[in-house]
Parts: sequence; C-alpha cells; structure tokens
Amino acid sequence: MKIDVVTLFPEMFDGPMGHSIMNRAAERGLLDFNRVNFRQFGLGKHQMVDDTPYGGGAGMLLKPEPLFDAMAHIEEQHPSTKKRVILMDPAGKPFNQKMAEDFSKEEHLIFLCGHYEGYDERVRSLVTDEVSLGDYVLTGGELAAMVMVDATVRLLPGVLGNAVSAETDSHSSGLLEHPHYTRPADYKGMKVPEVLMSGNHGLIEEWRHKESLKRTFFRRPDMLEGRVLTKQEQEWIAEWQRDFNEDES
Ligand code: ADE
Repeated sequence: MKIDVVTLFPEMFDGPMGHSIMNRAAERGLLDFNRVNFRQFGLGKHQMVDDTPYGGGAGMLLKPEPLFDAMAHIEEQHPSTKKRVILMDPAGKPFNQKMAEDFSKEEHLIFLCGHYEGYDERVRSLVTDEVSLGDYVLTGGELAAMVMVDATVRLLPGVLGNAVSAETDSHSSGLLEHPHYTRPADYKGMKVPEVLMSGNHGLIEEWRHKESLKRTFFRRPDMLEGRVLTKQEQEWIAEWQRDFNEDES
C-alpha cells in the first residue's frame, strides 16, 4: 500500500512512523509511506499557504493553489494508482474500524492535513472522503491522520505477527473484546476466572463470548443496536438487565 500525507508539519510523523509496527510494515515492503510538505507549493517568496476569508471573519484559511499543486505532484509521481483522498476535517464523518478496514483494501491513500481555521471550500473537490477523528477540535489534521494510518496499516496482511489478533480486536467483531489474564493465577487476592484454566476450549469460548457481550452491553449499548441476537444472547442480556434493576432499586 502507498500512503502519502500532505502536511505543513512532515516531521510530526517521525515518531509514530519510526516505531514498531509501522516501521516493520515499511521494512517488509508492505507500506510505502511518503510525506509531502505543501509549503513547497506555497505562493510567492514567502511560500504563502493561507489567507484571510472573503466576507471577513476571524482566522486564516488554507489557500487552494498549494493543495491542488501538491496533489498534482503526487499524481505525476504515481499516475497509475487508484487513489483515495481523505481530508482531515472535524466536520467530517467520524472515523471507525469499518473505515480502517475499507482503507486497508485500497492501493493508495492520500491524507490531507489542514491547519488554521480550515480549508478554502474548493479543496473539497480534490477529495473522496472527509473524515473526523472525533467530536473535538485538534490544532491540525496530523494527529488525526497518524491515528487513521496506524489503524489502517495494522490491518494489512502480514503486518501483525499474529493475524488472528486483528480479527478478535474490540470493534472488528461488532463487540468489545473480552477480558484477558496472564500469570499469576492469583495476584494479591485478585483471581483469574477458573474457567480459563480449565483446558475446556468450548467453555472458554463461551465465557469469552459472554464477557464480550456483557462489556458491550454495559459500556457501549449503541453497538448492539441493529445486531441480531441469538436466543442465548437475549437470555444473558435479560439476566444482566434483571441484576442491574435489582441493584438500582
Ligand atoms: N482537524 C482538527 N480537528 C480534527 C478532527 N477532530 N478530526 C480530523 N481532523 C481534524
């Protein structure tokens, strides 16, 4: 997969891209990661990239020309790849695991990172997706792009050592992940559930499934909306609901 980030702060990516999984993906030839500083396409001797808004108002906007030129530069370098162009925007669609899965199937991703008050509206004609990291405003799109790149790249085949681990992650199954334990079996009185040490794989699977559902039911009930529940799952939920109501009364 090719990834380009178009940014005024390319050095911000040194940390996450130089470490562990991202680095391994690059070393294994699974990821070709590039940064394009669109300052180099800025206007005039000061390489201006921003300007005041027409109609007045506070703050500066990113001008269209440097971003259009940065995109043309990437197109020249990679004329034949199929590109998905993702604008980092707090007003975009909230990022989630499903998007990371979709992105991980693409050939070439381009992340556009803004700063200041926002973009000249015409920049949106360059993009295929407008995505937000969440309902809060960051000082720029770089941190959001780093998170999205990380969540995407770890899903590329061959990047994670243990392929199964991505499939059992919280969110990929539509449920949060169940609790995990390692040695010691008893830590200062906090005990590992017996079933996990029973060697009975059927019971262990059932316990994990139940705990996943329980976590999701209590922490993120929104994730269960629209999910078709088995009879057994409905019974578990009814049981937790009863316990919960008793505790409340
Ligand atoms: N730029 C500023 N805030 C952002 C957010 N929440 N998501 C994506 N890009 C942003």
